[in-house]
Amino acid sequence: MDEGPSGWGIPLYERVLAGVAPGVALLDVGCGTGAFARLAADRGVRVVGLDTDRSAVAAAAERVPEGEFRVGDAHDLGWPDAAFDVVAAVQVLAHVTNPLKVLREAARVVGRGGTVVVTVWGREQECDVRAFGEALAGFLPPRSARRAPAGGPPLTEPDRLRKLAGLAGLEVAAVDEVSCAFRYPDDDALLGPLLASDIGRAAVHRAGPSAVRKAARDGLARYREPDGGYRLDNLFRCLTARVP
Ligand SMILES: C[S@@+](CC[C@H](N)C(=O)[O-])C[C@H]1O[C@@H](n2cnc3c(N)ncnc32)[C@H](O)[C@@H]1O
Repeated sequence: MDEGPSGWGIPLYERVLAGVAPGVALLDVGCGTGAFARLAADRGVRVVGLDTDRSAVAAAAERVPEGEFRVGDAHDLGWPDAAFDVVAAVQVLAHVTNPLKVLREAARVVGRGGTVVVTVWGREQECDVRAFGEALAGFLPPRSARRAPAGGPPLTEPDRLRKLAGLAGLEVAAVDEVSCAFRYPDDDALLGPLLASDIGRAAVHRAGPSAVRKAARDGLARYREPDGGYRLDNLFRCLTARVP
């Protein structure tokens, strides 16, 4: 569920929280294991988290004992209108079946004057993590056979994100770019999660672990740092919007 190595999201979370004052009631939609919720609570924000994944909700509750967490679906939030000051959806929209419905629900539960903050990945060419797929491409079926095109441009396109927010009745205040470095201290830290990912397991199934490790090491060599670690820079976008 975590999209990168431990701590990668701090600059993004900081951006989401930039305009959020202590004491504000914030719903963390798709809270996962509570990494963002932890930082928000540390800033004095009153956090409520929701996720479809029961084990993630349990982990978030343990990580943020002062918060409140429940299992639920972002498409149909159980709270009444205007129950929160802010809704944050951090790296969630790409995972839901109907992002527009999720944004409409977010707008409803903050109500007039409320704030909705959403983050998404940047375009593929803006993110060094594309090198993972490129390094293993020789072991995988052609891309066109792997991923059926979804309808319309992806949410990584800022214009699509703005349009979706508008359709949900939100007034966009800003779409900011935030760079987050994925840092891996050594080969094992880099290759372990990669080989365990969907594309990594498919590649290992075809070619065996040592060929895949070698291809990944070679493919990612340009991101290696003098200390033997790796640094991949990725762009994210953070949309801040208000309910007029
Ligand atoms: C990439 S993770 C992001 C987790 C967390 N926001 C973070 O930044 O670490 C996406 C999360 O969205 C959750 N999710 C996916 N569909 C959802 C839905 N319909 N309602 C609520 N949560 C959902 C997943 O279970 C997962 O925890």
